[in-house]
Amino acid sequence: MRAALRIFAGPVRLALSVALAASSAAAQTPAAPRPALAPTPPMGWSTWYGLRCDFDAATLKAMADRMVATGLVAAGYDGLNVDDCWAVRRDADGHLREDPKRFPAGMKAVGDAIHERGLKFGIYASAGITTCQRELSSDGSRLPVGSKGHEYQDARDFAAMGADFVKYDWCGRYETQDGPSTYQTMRDAIAATGRPMLLSICEWGYTKPWNWGRGVGQMWRLGMDTLNCWACQTDWGGIGVVHTFDLLAEHAAKGGPEGWNDPDNLMIGNGVLTPDEERAQISIYATAAAPLIIAGDLRTIRTESLAILKNRDVIAVNQDPLGKPGQRIRKEDGEEVWIRELQGDRRAVVLFNRNAAARTIALRWTELDLAPGTRIGGGREIWTDKTVPAGVGVSRRVPGHGVAMFVLDPPSGAKVKAPI
Ligand code: GLA
Repeated sequence: MRAALRIFAGPVRLALSVALAASSAAAQTPAAPRPALAPTPPMGWSTWYGLRCDFDAATLKAMADRMVATGLVAAGYDGLNVDDCWAVRRDADGHLREDPKRFPAGMKAVGDAIHERGLKFGIYASAGITTCQRELSSDGSRLPVGSKGHEYQDARDFAAMGADFVKYDWCGRYETQDGPSTYQTMRDAIAATGRPMLLSICEWGYTKPWNWGRGVGQMWRLGMDTLNCWACQTDWGGIGVVHTFDLLAEHAAKGGPEGWNDPDNLMIGNGVLTPDEERAQISIYATAAAPLIIAGDLRTIRTESLAILKNRDVIAVNQDPLGKPGQRIRKEDGEEVWIRELQGDRRAVVLFNRNAAARTIALRWTELDLAPGTRIGGGREIWTDKTVPAGVGVSRRVPGHGVAMFVLDPPSGAKVKAPI
């Protein structure tokens, strides 16, 4: 059967009418019970943003070595995710094939090298007939490196490579494809391999994956790509870092163990955000329980950015075993207060100043549901590494686009107020 279908390509959506043979229905295998793959938000590093398509096996090994040498792996960033551009064709048997010049020993060898360095190996695929960056052959025909119609075969090949993580993108898809069934097919294909592989749903929030992603993948993108800027926006939907905070606030109630809200990668260390903005991004992502995926070039990253990424206390908030995303409980005049309940009845608190000029922001005790005058048990201020004395208030002069962040020990029974 042949059908004329529209295909969407890339973040800049191109609607193309093409005639294509309809793919045969994928085998229906019931999903097997899966082990816990993401009890806390995934952490790691991705090739995208920092390297785009400019990487080969040697670059990936060098980056894995850098992750170890910089202490990022020891800090918890334990995944190396190969994003778009590794696959360049399908062979006569329909298997995805890497670029032989860039990966002469194949992708399993890349996976082995990543594993040898104590890291998990992430691979990338797209749910349509092409990926976002690999759309056209030199003769102008569509490059069939998307997984549509090849889901089970591709998942088996990813398992054979030793992949631990599959990011499944939304490029090159048919207009008729819907989010839930597309991603359920890949979930079932992964389950049929018998190898536990985390499924990262990347459909840019188009079909509201926060409503159906739990039980399908372990994380879902909330929006279009995050750009390397604080507050810019593009006509195709790319957004600056500060806009991702609003997505996290909106969907906080949907995240939790085995299903995390993914605002896209950290832009820390990419040379554009100021140190205050970098601290703001990781503080809010930690409090909102977002995956922490670094996207910079680790060969050139500044020491200050590395220290921000490796801050032990902010990572402990992100990885808190209770797994409860924090909420934004105040947004007034560019001043925000975010609170996350942590194990042991503690609270992570972020005072965030969205304005360009410094502001004094005070945490209102009612925001912790404490009676006025109640004494907190003290705590720690994260970025200054100071002890917060037991007392009745916390107030800080917060720089523009910056944060103050605390872990507080309130008296037992204190509750976080309902979010706004
Ligand atoms: C899309 C995704 C990005 C990245 C690129 C790669 O834009 O949203 O995260 O994977 O594709 O081409």
